[in-house]
Amino acid sequence: ELAQIGVTGLAVMGRNLARNFAHHGYRVAVHNRTQARTDSLLADHGDEGDFVGSSSLEEFVQSLERPRRIIIMVKAGAGTDAVIEELIPLLESGDIVIDAGNAHFPDTVRREKLLAEHDLHFVGMGVSGGEEGALKGPSIMPGGPAESYESLGPMLEEISAHVDGVPCCTYIGPDGAGHFVKMVHNGIEYADMQLIAEAYDLLGRGLGADAAEIAGIFRTWNEGDLESFLIEITAEVLAHTDDRTGKPFVDIILDQAEQKGTGRWTVQNALDLGVPITGIAEATFARALSGSVPQREAAREALPADAEEWVIEDRDAFIEDVRLALYASKVVAYSQGFDQIAAASRENDWNIDRGAMARIWRGGCIIRARFLNRITEAYERDPELPLLLADPYFTEAVGNGLAAWRRIVAGAARAGVPTPAFSSSLAYYDGIRAQRLPAALIQAQRDFFGAHTYRRVDDEGAFHVEWSLDRSETSEGRPAG
Ligand code: 6PG
Repeated sequence: ELAQIGVTGLAVMGRNLARNFAHHGYRVAVHNRTQARTDSLLADHGDEGDFVGSSSLEEFVQSLERPRRIIIMVKAGAGTDAVIEELIPLLESGDIVIDAGNAHFPDTVRREKLLAEHDLHFVGMGVSGGEEGALKGPSIMPGGPAESYESLGPMLEEISAHVDGVPCCTYIGPDGAGHFVKMVHNGIEYADMQLIAEAYDLLGRGLGADAAEIAGIFRTWNEGDLESFLIEITAEVLAHTDDRTGKPFVDIILDQAEQKGTGRWTVQNALDLGVPITGIAEATFARALSGSVPQREAAREALPADAEEWVIEDRDAFIEDVRLALYASKVVAYSQGFDQIAAASRENDWNIDRGAMARIWRGGCIIRARFLNRITEAYERDPELPLLLADPYFTEAVGNGLAAWRRIVAGAARAGVPTPAFSSSLAYYDGIRAQRLPAALIQAQRDFFGAHTYRRVDDEGAFHVEWSLDRSETSEGRPAG
């Protein structure tokens, strides 16, 4: 009997995805370059379901029903290309190759073109939720040819997380759309993590609170609007004590945040699209700053703080201010991420439904949160919503916390507590809502030194002032007016 789905690459994510399919009653073909991994999967978990082990890629391909559905779960990059190269001659027209790694979406676009030349379908598929998600139900973001979703979609929806009975998996859009959306998911993940870290820092420095006390605050927050996986694990991490020293665990960790690159890609792409995703960018740069060791050493020696002491009279009011500022900044970061999805969708004709993205992120993934329901509702109210922040629900929710947000950002600046994501989000909020921006002056400067022209508030067309002559205004080379 042939297998319905195959997984090649049996490190922890691949192995758990394979087990998840098996738990749902599918016959699963499994393969790994080093046979030992296949053997250990079968030895440790063979009794959990119906697995077909293969010792070669040929055998693996032959063990699958047609059209074949083959999930590649290897480290993103050259490894993926190597497996694809090897697979192509073994496959037949209509077979589906699925890349479930964290691939960069331009690679996915390129790979889909290559496979299409061989009459094969390529599905770039974002998977979020880590090891546990892969095993028990991840959030799944499959792109690629729409017709491949007909045969693949129902299986993926079955093994995905479910919220209120609704699967956290939907067809995202053609070619790179799935991996693109996963990339932005990760960018938002960076922003969310940074915002939580800033809130932790503010609480610690403002209240003089230790990790255990802050854990309690996060636990309480997790019962309200902020309820989310990241807040939940933050409380757990902060409550954890280091075995070796008996100190709060967070205090013994080196304060240099690393990254594998998806946040950086998100920011690079936003620069190309011209979409201001300041929250994600600040979060990515904050990681880079933390890792700038020689610069930090030099700065620690040389730079005075000249900061004021943060006198907090009402501890509960301060905690509530931080909570409101965190929520508002979080709304900004998500609003920006959804803007980026909209811009890329337009640019690439992906036709991505933003409300559906929020829906499939409600469960399974790292940024799963109660708040995502609100985003889905906002896009249901207006699928073309130009700005998530301008949806009435979010306008009100952020508006309620606005004074608190300003107090926190101002207080942090006076006390010398760095809050790059909190403060840049507030600056974005005030920038995007401004009646008039100083961009007018920038246009004038550009025209002055480079004759780059400007547009007027009271006339159509492009104008230029003869700055070095008589300062008369011209329009397309002719005197204006
Ligand atoms: C997920 C995570 C996952 C991984 C990140 C970590 O959605 O399951 O985002 O993809 O944990 O790649 O990213 P960094 O190593 O860049 O922090």
